[in-house]
Amino acid sequence: MSQVPVALVTGGARGIGAAIAIELARNGLDVVVFDVADGSATVAAIESTGRRGLSIAGDVTSAADRAALLARIEQAFGRLDVLVNNAGVAPKVRADILEAGEESFDRVMGINLKGPYFLTQAAANWMIRQRKTRGGDWMCIVNISSMSAYTASVSRGEYCLSKAGVSMATKLWAARLAEFGIGVYEIRPGIIATDMTAAVKDKYDKMIAEGLTPIRRWGQPADIARAVASVARGDMKFSTAQVIDVDGGFHLRTL
Ligand SMILES: NC(=O)c1ccc[n+]([C@@H]2O[C@H](COP(=O)([O-])OP(=O)(O)OC[C@H]3O[C@@H](n4cnc5c(N)ncnc54)[C@H](O)[C@@H]3O)[C@@H](O)[C@H]2O)c1
Repeated sequence: MSQVPVALVTGGARGIGAAIAIELARNGLDVVVFDVADGSATVAAIESTGRRGLSIAGDVTSAADRAALLARIEQAFGRLDVLVNNAGVAPKVRADILEAGEESFDRVMGINLKGPYFLTQAAANWMIRQRKTRGGDWMCIVNISSMSAYTASVSRGEYCLSKAGVSMATKLWAARLAEFGIGVYEIRPGIIATDMTAAVKDKYDKMIAEGLTPIRRWGQPADIARAVASVARGDMKFSTAQVIDVDGGFHLRTL
């Protein structure tokens, strides 16, 4: 078994996932990147920190890909300490919930909620098995949800539902895994500058400038990555099920 803790970051080929993977490497973890897209650029950045990186291609909605992923990590490293469920998609088209179709609903729910839920189940069972031989080593699961978990956007209902589901999944896994010393956390990004939000950049530029968020700037992938690294280091071991808003204060109600 590797002497270095190992993290798995889904959707780590770009955007928030890439930033998380690199920040975890800077914090001393070896990192596996799982993505439908090519993760080699992220692996090069991981390795430039001196840590080991591994890119595994696959789709989080595929049970076979998820099983092959964990088997490959076991073979390569013999351990898994941190799972970051980051892979996610927005609807291809923003459609009013009075019209939006079932195909987009199934796609978004499959990638954002069902796939990560069953990846968590498989990873958790492996972590429980590891616990028997690994004493008090810190293990945790981090779900990247969204402010859409509690904010109603009627032109992307399926996205909001998927992220609300991720919030409940965080509670469920936190409740089930606490006895095994596995912490489960939810990081809620606000508006973060990535490919996902590139198409709505002008709209959000204006809204942020007009005060949508108390901190008047776009979030950066590094903002999310630092929060994940804090959890992965074990800075908040007595706070399982905790939600961490990384949103420039968007969730704050003011009067
Ligand atoms: N960007 C934002 O403003 C924002 C806000 C809130 C939450 N989020 C969440 O953060 C996460 C990352 O978003 P991002 O902005 O970096 O998006 P992104 O589109 O830049 O990156 C997403 C990554 O996930 C991968 N991916 C997509 N479907 C996959 C699948 N089926 N299996 C495996 N990998 C898959 C993509 O190939 C890509 O590398 C998502 O869960 C997203 O919902 C983003």
